[in-house]
Amino acid sequence: MSRVAVIGAGPSGLAALRAFQSAKAKGAKIPEIVCFERQDDWGGLWNYSWRTGLDEYGEPVHSSMYRYLWSNGPKEALEFADYTFDEHFKTPIGSYPPREVLWDYIKGRVEKAGVRSWVRFRTPVRDVSYDKKTGKFTVVAHDLKADKSITEKFDNVIVATGHFSTPNVPQFEGFRTFGGRIMHAHDFRDALEFKGKDILIVGTSYSAEDIGSQCYKYGCKSVTISHRTNPTGYDWPKAFSEVPILTKVEGKKAFFKDGSTRENVDAIILCTGYQHHFPFMRDDLRLRTKNKMWVMNLYKGVVWEDNPKLFYLGMQDQYYTFNMFDAQAWFARDVILGRIKLPTKATMRKHSKLWESKEAKIVTPKDAWEFQADNIRELLAATDYPSFDIDGVNQLLYEWKNHKKEDIMNFRDNAYRSVMTGKMSPKHHTKWMKAMDDSLESYLRSK
Ligand SMILES: Cc1cc2nc3c(=O)[nH]c(=O)nc-3n(C[C@H](O)[C@H](O)[C@H](O)COP(=O)(O)OP(=O)(O)OC[C@H]3O[C@@H](n4cnc5c(N)ncnc54)[C@H](O)[C@@H]3O)c2cc1C
Ligand SMILES: NC(=O)c1ccc[n+]([C@@H]2O[C@H](COP(=O)([O-])OP(=O)(O)OC[C@H]3O[C@@H](n4cnc5c(N)ncnc54)[C@H](OP(=O)(O)O)[C@@H]3O)[C@@H](O)[C@H]2O)c1
Repeated sequence: MSRVAVIGAGPSGLAALRAFQSAKAKGAKIPEIVCFERQDDWGGLWNYSWRTGLDEYGEPVHSSMYRYLWSNGPKEALEFADYTFDEHFKTPIGSYPPREVLWDYIKGRVEKAGVRSWVRFRTPVRDVSYDKKTGKFTVVAHDLKADKSITEKFDNVIVATGHFSTPNVPQFEGFRTFGGRIMHAHDFRDALEFKGKDILIVGTSYSAEDIGSQCYKYGCKSVTISHRTNPTGYDWPKAFSEVPILTKVEGKKAFFKDGSTRENVDAIILCTGYQHHFPFMRDDLRLRTKNKMWVMNLYKGVVWEDNPKLFYLGMQDQYYTFNMFDAQAWFARDVILGRIKLPTKATMRKHSKLWESKEAKIVTPKDAWEFQADNIRELLAATDYPSFDIDGVNQLLYEWKNHKKEDIMNFRDNAYRSVMTGKMSPKHHTKWMKAMDDSLESYLRSK
């Protein structure tokens, strides 16, 4: 029997498990699937940890999520086509659930599929190599609980280890002697730590927006957002200000490129993004890329062109998430099952180059999600993943973006229609700015 290694049991890796299980349920003969997961539970980033730095085994803490994190886009845009929110929660829920609610949803589908026994928890992969002579991969992993190294052979490898976990940490002049706290968004855990404080955020993307909003919601005194390229441009409350890039700090004073300064900065939070980091992949198998909409050397965004027995899931910058990971996972599965015949390497390269040239024409966020949607359409057309209304999701994203522009602090109070069920979601019982308790119980109670 052939064997497939799936590395990572986050939403992407779990999509791969579900893809194989659904083929099996329809009578297909599937390979043995072994999923290696470094954490002690599944769900990837959605599996929150209070820890930062290294965990109890000395492993890097994976999760970059924090307390009070709510979905930053409508849940209707990420809904699984084969497992709706209504099926999971048995009752309609609001459109921007907190982390724990989404984690519950992610887990629900794979619990129903009964694939937990396919996962080896607390088993980080250390090394993946490929032998051209045997046509097999050798995977070396570490069973942390038994403190034993494991070496096994596989016919295929699917890398699903995410790319929002290893922080990108720039350094600015004066950091060594800064008089406050300096941290990266990856280590941010609880906005209450900054109650009454003046914070400086570097970066303008989702982490910057959300961590700034969280800190304001939970009582920080001021938020200064420093941009390298463009300001966020949102109509922020008075306590916010936007400034050009930080040039240096002296004591607790920060200096910016336009000559402006801020006195008494208590904390600098670097919301400067993440690195694609795959130290366990040998040089010839390792994906090297920045966080972008089209990642090179991956045919259709999934298949490693230099060795099409290897797959990467979820490696693009993301407007679409869970249902895109599904589309990718179903595609990888069908290549492995021999249902999809791949073209030659030269043809795959040409195809990728074409997409790269389309990516270069992206100007607006709308261009970006439409580009991603077109890629997903191609993937869906090739497999039996239930097709869904992608134009409808694009429209949802458009509304979401407008709602953010209209009111950045309250956009999460809106509700949207599910493209999977056609049903309109209810507005949540409490406005986001007033909802201090982010627990599943609190979110699901009717009032
Ligand atoms: C702070 C934050 C908030 C986000 N909020 C949203 C949101 O609101 N909505 C949304 O749709 N998306 C959000 N995202 C995007 C997020 O990338 C996806 O939702 C999703 O978690 C990606 O799934 P993944 O499986 O590709 O990666 P991950 O979720 O990162 O999962 C990867 C898994 O691989 C495991 N792993 C890593 N290395 C190894 C190894 N060597 N061996 C074995 N296992 C390993 C990890 O432990 C982890 O379980 C957010 C991201 C961040 C950082
Ligand atoms: N649910 C939520 O609310 C939530 C919260 C946080 C994050 N997320 C998710 O997390 C993922 C990652 O988002 P992210 O914001 O962490 O990363 P990101 O989208 O990759 O953005 C990185 C930011 O860092 C800036 N930057 C990078 N290097 C810099 C440097 N040397 N100096 C100054 N600025 C620098 C970039 O600026 P330039 O524009 O100049 O390149 C950009 O603004 C996204 O998928 C997002 O959806 C979700």
